[in-house]
Amino acid sequence: MSQTAIRKVDAATAPPAHACNAGRAARLRRLTLTDYRSYAYADIAFDGRHAVIAGANGTGKTNLLEALSQIGPGRGLRGARLDELPRIGGAGGWAVSARIDDGEDERRFGVGAEAARPQRRVCRIDDASASGPGAFADHLRFLWLTPAMDRLFMDGAGERRRFLDRMTLARDAAHGKTSSAYEQAMRQRQRLLDEGGAEEGWLNALEAQMAETGVAIAAARRETVSALAAAAVADDDGVFPAADIALEGELETALDGDKPADAETAFADKLCARRRLDAEAGRALAGPHRSDLLVSHRKKGRPARLCSTGEQKALLIGLVLANGRALSRRSGGAPLILLLDEIAAHLDPDRRAGLFSIIDDLGFQTLMTGTDQALFTAWGRRAQHFEARDGALCERTPT
Ligand SMILES: Nc1ncnc2c1ncn2[C@@H]1O[C@H](COP(=O)(O)OP(=O)(O)OP(=O)(O)O)[C@@H](O)[C@H]1O
Ligand SMILES: [Mg+2]
Repeated sequence: MSQTAIRKVDAATAPPAHACNAGRAARLRRLTLTDYRSYAYADIAFDGRHAVIAGANGTGKTNLLEALSQIGPGRGLRGARLDELPRIGGAGGWAVSARIDDGEDERRFGVGAEAARPQRRVCRIDDASASGPGAFADHLRFLWLTPAMDRLFMDGAGERRRFLDRMTLARDAAHGKTSSAYEQAMRQRQRLLDEGGAEEGWLNALEAQMAETGVAIAAARRETVSALAAAAVADDDGVFPAADIALEGELETALDGDKPADAETAFADKLCARRRLDAEAGRALAGPHRSDLLVSHRKKGRPARLCSTGEQKALLIGLVLANGRALSRRSGGAPLILLLDEIAAHLDPDRRAGLFSIIDDLGFQTLMTGTDQALFTAWGRRAQHFEARDGALCERTPT
């Protein structure tokens, strides 16, 4: 039986956009790419307005957004492996550096790898080396939307879970560590179960760790979903349709009624009782690694999975913008930049205009790409316009 904890995203109670732009704004001032994918070398000056990057297929638009997204924890907006990033035909290393004005100071961030050690990511903040990409998150956060996410509602639960966890990580930097600790305990427990004959005390300790971290993961996800519901960018004109968001997962649901400590005890007991089943299955059959994020189109009264391509895109954009708005309302936290790849595709002119005005209200600098410059003419001089041409970006004045 599915277990869901539903949060209503109510258009009527959604606050006006202008009430929500209190977050600190970051402004990308300069981006330099060296041997990064299709770019041998590019040094691009940004003037602080939103940036529109238009160009034919394969001219390097996504590569540019991806390069910027490397200045953050994780593997960038494509989730790529490190060995995919150096330019084919280059010397083997790569580098991305960015100057960001965070409203108080201009900071310099750098990430890259040397040819001799391609698997070791080197990170720098200003003139000092950083411990790893996680350190960037204290200074800067990115929210992104890419065409690869268009299938979010059609794909398996794993993709939606990762989407939810990325949103949660942007709210709560500890979520990443908690998730790693859970995964590690789960892997160790499974190895012991697979080998057989493990000490009871050892299994108990690992299950206690899974219970503690598992409940923390579920609690953090619940907070994200509540914040999304409260900040939803939804309106009755259907630009970004109102959605009902539900978390499907036994721990997430247990926290509806149980105190976290009780949910932990119950989950640890369950893990203990299911050892034989999990050993037979070769994996843990229950836990937050199986949860799902369910989204439905309120007005149509149907799950996102059954909505049209355009409706799904609108729901997805609504969720990402709601997350941006939710993050902007929290005091503290690093400033945000929005990366919207192929954003205008699938949107009719009204939805496009609605999107642009919401982006403007959010107040975060946004980098947008598309194959056709005409899709962005509505920005006029409110945005800086670039044209991507194989391995280069040229600024152009909008007509
Ligand atoms: N490591 C690499 N070295 C050199 N070129 C690469 C590397 N990885 C990808 N490319 C190439 O970079 C080019 C630009 O890719 P990118 O995805 O940025 O294009 P795009 O402008 O976003 O196109 P589209 O409009 O189709 O999305 C592609 O031809 C791709 O094959
Ligand atoms: Mg692209």
